[in-house]
Amino acid sequence: MIYVAPSLLAADFANLKADVKRIADAGANYLHLDVMDGAFVPNISFGAPVIASLRPHSRLIFDVHLMIMDPIRYIEDFVKAGADIITIHLESCADPMKAIQAIRAREVRCAMAISPATPVEKLIPFLPHLDMALIMTVVPGFGGQALIPETLEKVRTVKRYADSHGLNLDIEVDGGIKPENVGLTTAAGANIIVAGSAVFGSKQPRTVIEDMRKSAAEHPYQA
Ligand code: DX5
Ligand code: ZN
Repeated sequence: MIYVAPSLLAADFANLKADVKRIADAGANYLHLDVMDGAFVPNISFGAPVIASLRPHSRLIFDVHLMIMDPIRYIEDFVKAGADIITIHLESCADPMKAIQAIRAREVRCAMAISPATPVEKLIPFLPHLDMALIMTVVPGFGGQALIPETLEKVRTVKRYADSHGLNLDIEVDGGIKPENVGLTTAAGANIIVAGSAVFGSKQPRTVIEDMRKSAAEHPYQA
């Protein structure tokens, strides 16, 4: 079973409420919320007030991807805004374990992300403390980029580690994923699939999501 998490970054920002309903009706499982601060990444997107405004209008799982420096400063804000999952970047934390503990102290799922330039070995020690690992398949900052195939080996490494250590860990992939290449990510072990432009950018999001599920089912993980 895979979960499809369309990224709000590719939504119509003048019609967020209606656009979120459109992708929920199309069968999305999660809503992926890309928060960018113009410092950790070169782009600025939106923050907790936008998430809080959408919360009463959607029952989707709010999957908040924090691409911000020192995210520990804002954990409380995003919990209050209605996050169900909070993802921090390993690269953005002065003390990653402290940030993990700050998230785990709340009633939310805790995840850690690594950018393409970060070796997966740096993430491994944190896996036992996480509900989800996010392997970035593009350099974070912008939607609409092409998936970097070399990142998929990291998915495989995390999956192998999780299975061999009995961890109940979700593995999310994010960036450049569409029906044509989603099978590469599921075959490597991913089970939560972010897709921004492919889903929000489509006039037929239901078909796109169905095609992604179909391709995922045809390309299951093989150890
Ligand atoms: C990139 C973001 C992604 C992005 C995905 O920094 O984390 O979530 O919006 O968009 P697509 O699917 O268009 O690559
Ligand atoms: Zn993201």
